[in-house]
Amino acid sequence: MLRVKKLTKKFGKKYANENVDLSLDPGEIGVLLGPNGAGKSTTMKCILGLVNFEGEVTVGGNPVRSMEAKKILGYVPETPELYSMLTVREHFEFITRAYHLNAEKTREYASELAERFRLTEVLDYYCKDLSKGMQQKVSIICALLPHPKLILLDEPMMGLDPHAIKELRVIISELSEEGVAILISTHLISTVEGIWNKAYIMRKGQILSCHKKEEMVGVWAESLERIFFAETESYDSVWQTSSAKAPAKRSNTVTRPNTAKKKKNTKKKKK
Ligand SMILES: Nc1ncnc2c1ncn2[C@@H]1O[C@H](COP(=O)(O)OP(=O)(O)OP(=O)(O)O)[C@@H](O)[C@H]1O
Ligand SMILES: [Mg+2]
Repeated sequence: MLRVKKLTKKFGKKYANENVDLSLDPGEIGVLLGPNGAGKSTTMKCILGLVNFEGEVTVGGNPVRSMEAKKILGYVPETPELYSMLTVREHFEFITRAYHLNAEKTREYASELAERFRLTEVLDYYCKDLSKGMQQKVSIICALLPHPKLILLDEPMMGLDPHAIKELRVIISELSEEGVAILISTHLISTVEGIWNKAYIMRKGQILSCHKKEEMVGVWAESLERIFFAETESYDSVWQTSSAKAPAKRSNTVTRPNTAKKKKNTKKKKK
């Protein structure tokens, strides 16, 4: 459903993305993890064709920016971009018209989602009068209404209350079962534990490693957080405080510092 090859994006002389490769099959839930500035949002903006880039991106086999790709893409941006002088209900109508959706079916789907996100009481509020979390919920619903086949969720849990996070996790799993591919960038790693299939760890614009859930064993399959810290923090600090063994199988190998040698040197110095 999504194929990204050697995606490179520069802002001036600075690389925001460098040779990023990633792919998602229908139904896969991919997670993009990385520290601030790692290049997660820029990767998504390139996939959406919102910025120019080098490399190759196809969505459902269609080149990015083609009408075919746009029709099957959904996007929830990092910060909700709503029309302040349209009500929640008017946003849903706007999406219905813009995507030429079936009015009745879409109204039903919108009211189901609004109910699940507990937005029913504010359907006639102007979006400027909504709380941050409520705006985020509207943004998510707008992205789902056209039934996209690939959804990019940039920090979707940010600002959501615990009920909405739980509901969104269920919705993501349901969509995956229906064959929708989903790419999520998040710092709230616990919110995607248990639902992810593939995790990409990014740092300084590059993909450090890709981990497939089905290939992980033991604690590594259960804890995405552990994988994240092992990849992005100092390798030594994680392994010296952990009794867990390294992941048995890895899709990409990451070069790790030789911790044994460093330990020896430290002891000598102390003597
Ligand atoms: N419009 C822009 N102009 C110049 N540099 C940019 C622009 N957008 C992003 N960058 C730079 O590209 C790099 C990657 O930014 P990006 O927003 O993709 O990171 P991120 O992983 O989404 O970070 P965060 O976790 O904070 O959301 C950063 O160094 C950032 O400063
Ligand atoms: Mg970002």
